[in-house]
Amino acid sequence: MNSFVIKGGNKIEGEIEVQGAKNAVLPILAATVLNGGKNIIYNCPGLRDVEITIDVLKNLGCKVEKRGKTLFVDSENMNGCTIPDTLMRQMRSSIIFLGAIIARCKEAVVSMPGGCEIGNRPIDLHLKALRQLGVEITEAHGYINCKADKLKGDNIHLDFPSVGATENIMLAACMAEGITTVTNAAREPEIVDLEAFLNRMGAKISGSGSNVIRIEGVKKLYGVEHQIIPDRIVAATYLSCAAATKGSIILKHVNPNHMNAMTAVLKEMGCKIYTEKSRIILSSPVNRLKAVKRIVTMPYPGFPTDIQSPFMALTSIADGTSVFVENIFENRFQHVEELMRMGADIKVDGRIAVVQGVESLGGATVRAKELRGGAAMILAALAADGVTTVEDIKYIDRGYESIEKYLSSCGANIQRKE
Ligand code: EPZ
Repeated sequence: MNSFVIKGGNKIEGEIEVQGAKNAVLPILAATVLNGGKNIIYNCPGLRDVEITIDVLKNLGCKVEKRGKTLFVDSENMNGCTIPDTLMRQMRSSIIFLGAIIARCKEAVVSMPGGCEIGNRPIDLHLKALRQLGVEITEAHGYINCKADKLKGDNIHLDFPSVGATENIMLAACMAEGITTVTNAAREPEIVDLEAFLNRMGAKISGSGSNVIRIEGVKKLYGVEHQIIPDRIVAATYLSCAAATKGSIILKHVNPNHMNAMTAVLKEMGCKIYTEKSRIILSSPVNRLKAVKRIVTMPYPGFPTDIQSPFMALTSIADGTSVFVENIFENRFQHVEELMRMGADIKVDGRIAVVQGVESLGGATVRAKELRGGAAMILAALAADGVTTVEDIKYIDRGYESIEKYLSSCGANIQRKE
């Protein structure tokens, strides 16, 4: 089992160029099957989830080549419309291929994505929307079978502003006949990046970033080049690591406008934050970090669920009581028991966690239970007295590119143990 061994107490100080956004590159890679052309994707992060997505593209008959942070995807000879169980089980967010495969092939077969560590992750909103666009869907023997003689635009209202469902609708509707509107659409920056990529291909989409998106179907799409936006969650993770260790950090290649909900909390805790066009500079308070009265996770532009666990680790050493409400996923407090092994004082009741800050945490052997909870354990270890071993770090590698290299370059004592 791979692990990180971290000796706490070093200040995180220095500069980091932030990776491209995992949650932007995954739907954009799915979108490359739409145009049957040659695509070049720049600023692609080196992540396990990207490797799996490349496997899905190859399984569909696409040619994919990775040179450093640049991906070349040629979907001209796509010859399949099925994502096998083995790949779906490796990454449930492969469901994002559904809309794109149907748009290109008018049929698709994928296995039920099932749940994951943070919740049962239903896809009812995805399927309901695709049915409205004219897709016949049958679910049997663990597989979802989709067929569509023709895709026809419709007015789709999402009961919840689901990121994945919004993206699947955009992918399925961009070559449908007529106009599709999505109301109560998710507003995440990664959706805006997907719209930019699709429109560069020749799609006619507007409204991303707002809760109403309009998609006018077109006949043909073309291969393009695109640069992935910075990863706002990874950026906020590094800011919180600096804050946890009384350090200071300069992040480059970020978009501060995507991070207001997160930087606002860091300022409330006493951090000084200075932003420029593509840089953020954080310095920690001279005294102890202050607790945060309430952190409530919400769809964008609210406080992101993905940063909840690293920020909970940060408040676990703050002065006072912080209250977290996790509204997005039903099982996203698994890091709590791991933090308590290090001396954190946290009480959970349903979707609420009450964190009583302690002076310091103590090193221990802990586990990453899921991607962002794993990042929370790294943050706690950096701030703790003594040595911490974080096990099961495969979860962390899904979303953080070479996290130990970036943190070591800023003074952390962290080793990867194979
Ligand atoms: C995306 O997941 C992200 N993943 C998640 O990031 C992120 O936490 C989430 O959006 C919320 O921002 C990717 O983009 C690959 P949702 P997604 O559909 O699309 C319910 C990370 O750590 N729902 O917005 O799956 C669902 O159960 C990951 O990088 C339905 O009920 O999120 C959840 O409660 C974790 N029916 C809520 O909506 C549906 O059909 C939000 O889900 C779909 C979703």
